[in-house]
Amino acid sequence: MSELSTPHAGDDRAADDDVVALLMRQHGDIRNLFDEVEAAKGEERRDAFRRLVRLLAVHETAEEEVVHPFARKGFPGGEQVVKDRLAEEKAAKETLSALDEMDTEDPKFMPQLLKLRKDVQEHARAEERYEFTHIRRSSDTAGLASMAKAIKAAEAMAPTRPHPGVESGAANMALGPVAALMDRTKDAVRKAMGKD
Ligand SMILES: [Fe+2]
Ligand SMILES: [Fe+2]
Repeated sequence: MSELSTPHAGDDRAADDDVVALLMRQHGDIRNLFDEVEAAKGEERRDAFRRLVRLLAVHETAEEEVVHPFARKGFPGGEQVVKDRLAEEKAAKETLSALDEMDTEDPKFMPQLLKLRKDVQEHARAEERYEFTHIRRSSDTAGLASMAKAIKAAEAMAPTRPHPGVESGAANMALGPVAALMDRTKDAVRKAMGKD
């Protein structure tokens, strides 16, 4: 049983103005994508894994650009909380890059994926517990909304599921390696925050 239920359209609207709700929904999306990769085989696994890699890269980059800088100064002890989260994110990104170069049918793929899943899960839980709760308490509605806007600009770069019949620019975007995607995400976030 996951702590968060599968998101539906109503949740999308609820999360729209609240950066914490939005990020927690992404944590749920990430969990669902891990399930999808594990359950799928062949081409479907490859496709689900590409979406997982994209969402993880975009999610962590957006957190580093938007919520961590706020948390650092936003509440007592924030500096240390962010330092711990960044160390976890760095480790996860390294595993992610290693996995990204591996074929999804490689015998080493699944053990590595499960390791990444465990790390990502623990990291998300620590964020929710030690960082997000404080962000919600320390920021006003306008602050939560403006951070949410930046997160949404990033999210547009990582469609979590195929949208049959719906043409989206992001879905059709040619995607390069993880590092390039992170760079593009940074640009999109900074633009949304008005500091490019
Ligand atoms: Fe994170
Ligand atoms: Fe996160």
